[in-house]
Amino acid sequence: MYELGIDAIWFNPWYPSPMADGGYDVTDYRDIDPLFGTLEEAEELIAEANRLGIRVIIDIVPNHCSDKHAWFRAALAAKPGSTERERFWFRPGRGANGEDPPNEWRSFFGGSAWTRTTNPDGSPGDWYLHLFASGQPDLNWSNLEVRREHEDVLRFWFDRGVAGARIDSATLLFKDAALPDFDPEHALVPHPYIDRDELHELYREWRAIADSYPGSRILVGEIWLPDRDRFARYLRPDELHTAFDFEFLACPWEAARLRAVIDATLAAHDPVGASPTWVLSNHDVTRDVTRYGRAETGLGSEEETCSIRTVDLMRGTRRARAAALLTQALPGAVCIYQGEELGLSEVEDLPENVLQDPVFFRSGGTNPGRDGCRVPLPWEGDAPPFGFSDGNASAPPWLPQPASWRNFTAAFQVSDPRSMLTLYRKALHIRRQERAFGDGPIRWLSAPANVLAFSRGDKLICVVNLSEESVELPPHHGVLLASELLDGDLLPADAAVWLRT
Ligand code: GLC
Repeated sequence: MYELGIDAIWFNPWYPSPMADGGYDVTDYRDIDPLFGTLEEAEELIAEANRLGIRVIIDIVPNHCSDKHAWFRAALAAKPGSTERERFWFRPGRGANGEDPPNEWRSFFGGSAWTRTTNPDGSPGDWYLHLFASGQPDLNWSNLEVRREHEDVLRFWFDRGVAGARIDSATLLFKDAALPDFDPEHALVPHPYIDRDELHELYREWRAIADSYPGSRILVGEIWLPDRDRFARYLRPDELHTAFDFEFLACPWEAARLRAVIDATLAAHDPVGASPTWVLSNHDVTRDVTRYGRAETGLGSEEETCSIRTVDLMRGTRRARAAALLTQALPGAVCIYQGEELGLSEVEDLPENVLQDPVFFRSGGTNPGRDGCRVPLPWEGDAPPFGFSDGNASAPPWLPQPASWRNFTAAFQVSDPRSMLTLYRKALHIRRQERAFGDGPIRWLSAPANVLAFSRGDKLICVVNLSEESVELPPHHGVLLASELLDGDLLPADAAVWLRT
């Protein structure tokens, strides 16, 4: 009924979890959290999706597990120096009584990356490392058991027919065992825990596992690395198949900068023969409609630390529509974050008492966190829960949906020719039909200031107008799709078009 036209679905972690970080704190990598269903249901879902030609990609979380995982519980119950503790990073504290953390490392979510344990007799014990929330102890990847376990988990899901794995925090995992302090402004090379060379051997092993299965099974990295060459090393032919292009996601709405990012991305992928994966948003960042509606349209450090700011949602929506056509005209894969296709904006007024993201709590409330982009999807109906759950008052959706979403449900949009959903459905359909949108080069065409124009093959042109004025379209033989109504041969500001030439 709401067919979108996708080839695959990536599920965020669906494993049993105390949900200290939206499921990225896993207690059992081989089961499904009862919140979502059962393992049998997941197996049925994978099989049904495969029958429909939709491939399932799971989320693998190797850097850390939950503090309620059997391994971590065993480690807490065991003594310092035990094999149980070797799977993690336990260290005595500094200071006369071990009252200071073993080093100055900071959690990505704010605060120290260390939490002190309590010994069975109630006395304060060693500390453990967690680069994220305290409920996410980091695993020790130099430990062979940790390695074997994750290989086995990969096989477990491949055996169940999943087509691939998105690897969470893929550049972390290995740590310098000396755990050296460093000045974050002048990070050590190699960095003690980011992008360490040991990762490549690991991903070669994982690639061999993926390749040992029939059909194609893919590995997608979550790789935030500004250095393009280091980024591309993960995509060598015997490592990961692809990685999200966060430089594109983070780029401000400016033609020259977008063009530079696209060129740099393509240039980095080319020598290793990998396909880029373009993204406009995900579950960790402000929704694109909101981002593009702000004065500062890029994703920067300011973005994370400012709370509610002025936003022009009309403008943001126009730009998000244009950005969708830009993204889908590029060579490679496109990953759409649920709700992007409905044009949902960030929910910036969630009351504090419903917030769940550890980023909010660990920053002492100075960072609003990521809950605003994670509010459950509106499917149909005039009031929350909009078909997301069965409307049972005792089990409302885990974050409240705004009443205004009645005009954003899939049902509301599906037959509206001007809706975001219709734009996405049409774009995905055309992208599948037109071979020129597949792999292959893009060729930049001359264009007015702050306008992007490029051709794909010899029959398609994409024009994106990021300027404040309408611009004239290049010569063409017809319009395939436009993000706004065209005014004759004029493309309005903040709009994009696909032309047949
Ligand atoms: C990744 C996930 C994010 C999670 C973090 C820790 O960045 O995308 O949602 O909080 O890893 O697992």
